[in-house]
Amino acid sequence: MAKSFISRSWSSQPISLSILRLWLGLTWIFAGWNKASDAGFLNPSSSHYIGAQLTGYLGSSPIAFFLRHLIEHATLVGWFVMLSEFAIGVAVLTGVALSLAALGGLGMSVGLWLSSSWSVHPYFLGSDTAYAILWLVLLVSLHQKSAKSGQRGTGRNTKLIPDITDRREVMRLIGVGAAAVAGALIGGRFKKTISVPLAGTAIVKLADFPVGSTKNFQAADGNAAILFRTKAGVFAYSAVCTHQGCIVSYSTTSQWIECPCHGAAYDPNRNAEVVRGPAPAPLAKIKVAISGSNIVQL
Ligand code: FES
Repeated sequence: MAKSFISRSWSSQPISLSILRLWLGLTWIFAGWNKASDAGFLNPSSSHYIGAQLTGYLGSSPIAFFLRHLIEHATLVGWFVMLSEFAIGVAVLTGVALSLAALGGLGMSVGLWLSSSWSVHPYFLGSDTAYAILWLVLLVSLHQKSAKSGQRGTGRNTKLIPDITDRREVMRLIGVGAAAVAGALIGGRFKKTISVPLAGTAIVKLADFPVGSTKNFQAADGNAAILFRTKAGVFAYSAVCTHQGCIVSYSTTSQWIECPCHGAAYDPNRNAEVVRGPAPAPLAKIKVAISGSNIVQL
């Protein structure tokens, strides 16, 4: 029965739509697999960690305010993204809840465009805009009546909301969900356990610097700097105030980086933006990363 449903979904559509579905379905499954088999994607101590990736987008993304909320629950977000990619890919290939899957793919692509691809210039070098358009084309095609036959793109698979009163439809949806979970679990069995340490100068041992820690250190240029480790990963800033060069320090009371000379303050969780003058600019960012058992300056 399932087989005939799948084959019907492919036979009742034009070849152009088949190419689109095949490419998008396989790509989304591969994207899920890529995350499932990445040992660092859900590991907060890794530079590949989803939280670290989201933090990296804050400086340029127009939806940074939203990403900040996601960072608080980064591991959950990582699972959601990974399972959604598998589920959307499987749904597109099997034709189950096809319109909903296309809408999901469109939403993910737009989200990626506004976060990871936003700073890519010129825009056409970022692939997320192209994927957003491909999903939009698929979605529109599913709902567009043929000029000749008056039929919609794939016949019966055009409902945006699946009919959960239909037992067979519910079973198909459960099948897609099960396939997504299976993909994530199988991908996890293929995790690459060998990590190549990044070259850099060790600042502190990872084991001695738990989440929530801060540390003053001397940067490679000889200037004072401050290192942070939060749920989002590790990051560091120059401790030289951008007003007149006094050495700033982190206040656990205000949770800002404060300057003792004229009272400037910076928010370490927002790229060291100035939250109180007279400093004219954020603190300079210093590139750090987790490398093996150490946090290093790159
Ligand atoms: S030197 Fe830091 S506020 Fe003036």
